[in-house]
Amino acid sequence: MGRERVLLVWVVAVLIIIMVGVGESKYMVYNTSQGIVADKLNVHLVAHSHDDVGWLKTVDQYYVGSNNSIQAFFQRWWRDQSEAMQLVVKKLVNSGQLENGGMCMHDEGPTHYIDMIDQTTLGHLFIKVEFNVTPRVGWQIDPFGHSAVQAYLLGAEVGFDSFFYGRIDYQDRAKRKSEKSLEVIWRGSKSLGSSSQIFAGAFPENYEPPSGFYFEVNDASPVVQDDPEFFDYNVQERVNDFVAAAVAQANITRTNHIMWTMGTDFKYQYAHTWFRQLDKLIHYVNMFADSNYL
Ligand SMILES: *[C@@H]1O[C@H](CO)[C@@H](O)[C@H](O)[C@H]1NC(C)=O
Ligand SMILES: *[C@@H]1O[C@H](CO)[C@@H](O)[C@H](O)[C@H]1NC(C)=O
Ligand SMILES: *[C@@H]1O[C@H](CO)[C@@H](O)[C@H](O)[C@H]1NC(C)=O
Repeated sequence: MGRERVLLVWVVAVLIIIMVGVGESKYMVYNTSQGIVADKLNVHLVAHSHDDVGWLKTVDQYYVGSNNSIQAFFQRWWRDQSEAMQLVVKKLVNSGQLENGGMCMHDEGPTHYIDMIDQTTLGHLFIKVEFNVTPRVGWQIDPFGHSAVQAYLLGAEVGFDSFFYGRIDYQDRAKRKSEKSLEVIWRGSKSLGSSSQIFAGAFPENYEPPSGFYFEVNDASPVVQDDPEFFDYNVQERVNDFVAAAVAQANITRTNHIMWTMGTDFKYQYAHTWFRQLDKLIHYVNMFADSNYL
């Protein structure tokens, strides 16, 4: 990289700010309070789970089934929460750490546009009533193909500033990576032109984390072992992995902001295993950044 870049991590969707303990005897507070720094590479860690509506189970089965706890689906979960928990969620929504959108993530191919509008309206109304906010970011990470109607009608016209999407044709994706055009301003409507354009970001791969950064309870990625008395202490190594993955991604995008989609199908069934590692990574990567690691 020609430029000197130092890593900085900023979390968009972290539900838990400070984690307690690392399973050892020492109490440790991880510093996750970093914000955006203009001249550094900003890695946005977006924690997400993905439960294709009706794919393997019905919505209700996803919610109450043996296989999941709180992940699906937000409206049902919300109804079951105490006022204290609802207050916490409201704070996360207001601080921009939790974004929600439509009732589901609609397909963009076979679905009739009336249904796309209806489900988006239903979801947005719920959020308006409960949180008094309008979602700003669209999240279409799993439709097999994408349509201009999404960009202008269900993106710009419903008030989104941006939308992020996964699954584009692999040849198109390869070309965009080499041209650094995964992120574009999309004018989805010829007649509306610039009045309904939207910032659109396609993912460089799928909607998964970089390889080696999966932290579900049964995932094989190495956790950050930060007790120096343990033989498998690996802070430096994990920070190096993080930096390498971030630099590789920054190499195919134009700005010093990149997103890591920290999750995939059916993840966060035990969310603390993810957030504990994310907090450690934020803490240690920023620590090295402060000493001009990169
Ligand atoms: C946490 O990091 C931020 C940003 O680097 C810094 O301003 C703050 O002083 C740190 N807090 C603690 C308790 O170290
Ligand atoms: C859990 O869910 C997965 C995927 O939906 C399914 O293959 C598996 O059989 C389920 N296990 C149980 C115990 O329900
Ligand atoms: C950055 O991209 C160039 C051109 O595609 C490639 O040759 C190089 O290996 C990449 N560097 C990294 C760190 O991914």
